[in-house]
Amino acid sequence: MSRALEQPSSDYLLSHSPTETDRLVLQARLYDPITEQVLRQAGIRPGMRVLDVGCGAGDVSFLAAGIVGPTGAVTGVDAAADVLEVARSRAAARRRSRPGALGSLRFERMTLPDITLEEPVDAVIGRLVLGHLPDPVAALRLLSGLVRPGGLILFQDFDNFPLRVEPPTPLAGAVLEAIAEALTVGGTSLGAGARLYSVFHRAGLPPVGLSATTPMGGVEDATVLPLVVQTYRALSRMALPGNSGAEERERTIGDVDTLLHRVREELTEEPATVIMPTAVTAWCRTPDPAGGAPTR
Ligand SMILES: C[S@@+](CC[C@H](N)C(=O)[O-])C[C@H]1O[C@@H](n2cnc3c(N)ncnc32)[C@H](O)[C@@H]1O
Repeated sequence: MSRALEQPSSDYLLSHSPTETDRLVLQARLYDPITEQVLRQAGIRPGMRVLDVGCGAGDVSFLAAGIVGPTGAVTGVDAAADVLEVARSRAAARRRSRPGALGSLRFERMTLPDITLEEPVDAVIGRLVLGHLPDPVAALRLLSGLVRPGGLILFQDFDNFPLRVEPPTPLAGAVLEAIAEALTVGGTSLGAGARLYSVFHRAGLPPVGLSATTPMGGVEDATVLPLVVQTYRALSRMALPGNSGAEERERTIGDVDTLLHRVREELTEEPATVIMPTAVTAWCRTPDPAGGAPTR
């Protein structure tokens, strides 16, 4: 990698406070098994050189590093300096507890579209980043120039439309509604994941693979409810304008410090599952002038 820019970061809605970084790590706990499975399915293999764009606190880079092993190399890049510090210190802690496990892994500050590499990589990957970019098609086109011919481009984003509680309950339902509304008002596309297929096509990179997995969980799940409450907390701090029903909904939701406890009580009395955003992944192979059909 040849440069690290001093640009102010990005349009990322939930900018990187320590609380938001903790939330990203909690979210990763829920989605990492899905991401790892699809990285392997799409063709990430030992020995590969991988670029993880919008790496945040490093979770996807850690997954990739675990797959490519000591003969491969992973570079995580992000626009935000503070979250990269978190990624670096998490990597150092992992290296201390399992020396050699991460192989060559480094984190660098770079902001799309200003990403340049000294040499092409075998794969560019990213989770929950394309949907935050003003022009994901242009970003994909640009990133494809960083991958060797016949290499892999893979992005994962959320489709937030499934977000609901089944059967509906008043408190958890109000929280999920508030989250969806805050994301919309904040400019996040709720359907970014489902739109990946079209984004890849418009970038001239027809996907060779698509997958969609929706996690869900009830009161016994260690991650789902804390993640929902932490997401609500992060978004409610932003004081985004709400609709006419927002005040009544806020009264229903009440004090955020006791919210997790009350949601747990509600879902204990009324067994119901929270259906989380679907993780949609699309991947393609970069054109190979030497010919040959793209492989899955
Ligand atoms: C929702 S977080 C996802 C982090 C990580 N990929 C994960 O799944 O845990 C989105 C990340 O993309 C970064 N980001 C947003 N726009 C960017 C840009 N233009 N260039 C580089 N990073 C960007 C943000 O700083 C943030 O860390």
